Amino acid sequence: MIESIINRVSCGRLESPAPSKEHLELMFKAALRAPDHKGQKPWEYIVFEGEKALSRFGDYLLQASLKDNPNLDEDKQEKIKNKPHRAPMVVVAVAKAKNNPKVPHVEEILSAGAGVQNLILGAYDLGYGAYWRTGSLAFNDHMKQPLGLDFEDTIVGFIYLGTPSVELKSKPVPEVDDFVRWG
Ligand SMILES: Cc1cc2nc3c(=O)[nH]c(=O)nc-3n(C[C@H](O)[C@H](O)[C@H](O)COP(=O)(O)O)c2cc1C
Repeated sequence: MIESIINRVSCGRLESPAPSKEHLELMFKAALRAPDHKGQKPWEYIVFEGEKALSRFGDYLLQASLKDNPNLDEDKQEKIKNKPHRAPMVVVAVAKAKNNPKVPHVEEILSAGAGVQNLILGAYDLGYGAYWRTGSLAFNDHMKQPLGLDFEDTIVGFIYLGTPSVELKSKPVPEVDDFVRWG
């Protein structure tokens, strides 16, 4: 378990199969055990799997981009529309705003981020590849309506999931002493 955490790497080269139903269930169970102030469960995960759903998500990205910049050239539009097709599955991870005066929204975002980390660790442990992306479209408010989100919610990631099409290479772990000191 600790080895999976230390060795995890992202993988942007992803192909089918996407995580199976059973594996996805396990990954989400892991995500739903993220630390959570006041037990609010401020999370939502929206799964897009397969050509049709990924194209629909690509349309959301394009429409949101066009609202910000109606003069996007054809090439750029095509590129944006095709982004989700870089993997057989994309999960949009959301920090829901529960508007609890005791829990600032930044804590909900942190909790959702911890959930995403559990999700991608679960994916790695089960032999899948994962890539956590955001980019300007995650912060584009025009993404919220098509995704059925409230205005105060925050998209914390577009998580690309699938089977690595390349061999995963481990990365050097930073020196602990460079980042940790005893107070
Ligand atoms: C909140 C968040 C957003 C990210 N957004 C992007 C992104 O939009 N594009 C990208 O190439 N990498 C992004 N990354 C970084 C990758 O997910 C990945 O962590 C990085 O490429 C390092 O690879 P590693 O996880 O194997 O160390 C993001 C990471 C985090 C935590």
